[in-house]
Amino acid sequence: MAPPAESRALLERAGQSHLLRFWPELAPAERDALLAALALLGAEELGAHCRRAAEARERERGALQRLDGRMEPVPAEFLGSVSSSQPAALARWEAEGFCQIAQNKVAVLLLAGGQGTRLGVAYPKGMYSVGLPSGKTLYQIQAERIRKLEQLASKKYSTTCTIPWYIMTSEFTLGPTEKFFIEHNYFNLEKSNVVMFEQRMLPAVTFDGKAILEEKGKVAMAPDGNGGLYRALVDNKILEDMARRGIQYIHVYCVDNILVKMADPIFIGFCVSKGADCGAKVVEKAYPTEPVGVVCRVDGVYQVVEYSEISLDTAQMRSPDGRLVYNAGNICNHFFTLDFLKTVAQKYEPHLKQHVALKKVPYVDEEGNLVKPLKPNGIKLEKFVFDVFQFSKNFVAFEVLREEEFSPLKNADTADTDTPTTARRALLSQHYRWALKAGAKFLDENGSRIPDRPNLSGTEDPPAVCEISPLVSYFGEGLETHMKNKDFYSPFILEESKTEMLEDARMN
Ligand code: UTP
Repeated sequence: MAPPAESRALLERAGQSHLLRFWPELAPAERDALLAALALLGAEELGAHCRRAAEARERERGALQRLDGRMEPVPAEFLGSVSSSQPAALARWEAEGFCQIAQNKVAVLLLAGGQGTRLGVAYPKGMYSVGLPSGKTLYQIQAERIRKLEQLASKKYSTTCTIPWYIMTSEFTLGPTEKFFIEHNYFNLEKSNVVMFEQRMLPAVTFDGKAILEEKGKVAMAPDGNGGLYRALVDNKILEDMARRGIQYIHVYCVDNILVKMADPIFIGFCVSKGADCGAKVVEKAYPTEPVGVVCRVDGVYQVVEYSEISLDTAQMRSPDGRLVYNAGNICNHFFTLDFLKTVAQKYEPHLKQHVALKKVPYVDEEGNLVKPLKPNGIKLEKFVFDVFQFSKNFVAFEVLREEEFSPLKNADTADTDTPTTARRALLSQHYRWALKAGAKFLDENGSRIPDRPNLSGTEDPPAVCEISPLVSYFGEGLETHMKNKDFYSPFILEESKTEMLEDARMN
């Protein structure tokens, strides 16, 4: 049977008739599914999308626009820093943050719609376990940080508060993420306070502007980038949900940063105290050629500038204090007011740039064989979550320490950086430092003292393995009660259930 004449004509006009190439071979259900998918995309829109993608790639292949002469760093008055602020200021911001959390005005929003192709597992990255002694996954660690922070804020203000957790997923991650949360009883969070929603998908396109068939009857689709957030907020009425709950401030973060300090009271408090509508946590760029985007101003407007957009000379420029001039490395860790998100979603979203990502997209060739390309063959158009900085009326940046707050899981262990090993090491080094600071002592399996290494960096394996449950400590606080002057055999896991025992031992 031939495909419906109308569909064929529409696709032909849009330059996409190849999508019906395998029609005669498709089973009735596959034909229905293909027609339904094409109807949803709309032939005309599909054609326009494919043209846009190919043109955008051509443009990007042309001379790259350098931004050097138009840039300036974030001015000091809009830049806070954990390491150079007085303890009293940090304490003030922290108190402000806790106060907002205790009043139920703060939510966290997780970007978890990515396909995690570099890590290369067939399930959502949040379900990945980096091999901690506890075996905890990224989702579990994050859920426990939320619970602990709720407890801390509730205790400080003698109240009961909630930090709702919004999770943006995609067609790839929604089903398995939901199932995982159900299987784990939402990690003891209230189910109604975990709100999952789905971002949109866009067709992947060949370099000559054709939608790609990943199966004979299926168009290859990809999530529309983490900046798809703003459309997804509208599609799923999330802003209304936030307003109904009285949320005013939202902390947005990526799934893959094992050290993420969700709803960090210091960061929230800093942004609120400064009256910011939009804020970004940054870490100091490690070296001039490090491939991270830097937060700065271009023609007076805030944006993230990629390493490829500046010359080596600019990247190497240093201030009198020896630090790089453009050193505010973006770590996808943002503060937004609800009002700002509303304005972006309603007014500015269509103006967000579509970035070109070149990816290896599996496809069926003209003979119908499935091909897994070894080099990029497809264009995915993506919006970026940080591209909204330009619309902020009062933007602030806040510098935190990399070894305390940033270790992303991007690659499999075959790579050198951002792997399960580096993530595990970063977390265990941090917990080891916390434990030492709290006065813990460590013993090896023979009962011999393991010499302390208080200045351990996050890139080394700690001499003793000590994992601290986020349910015991959110960011190293309150550990003396359980650990001061006590010996622990490495490896040691400080779980909530063990703390009572340790407490009793201290009393006796
Ligand atoms: P990355 O850009 O690192 O992409 O996402 P990824 O999908 O995790 O990994 P690769 O590139 O395929 O290897 C940064 C963050 O943005 C989210 C990811 O889930 C991650 O938290 N993201 C990315 C989305 O939520 N949606 C997207 O469409 C893309």
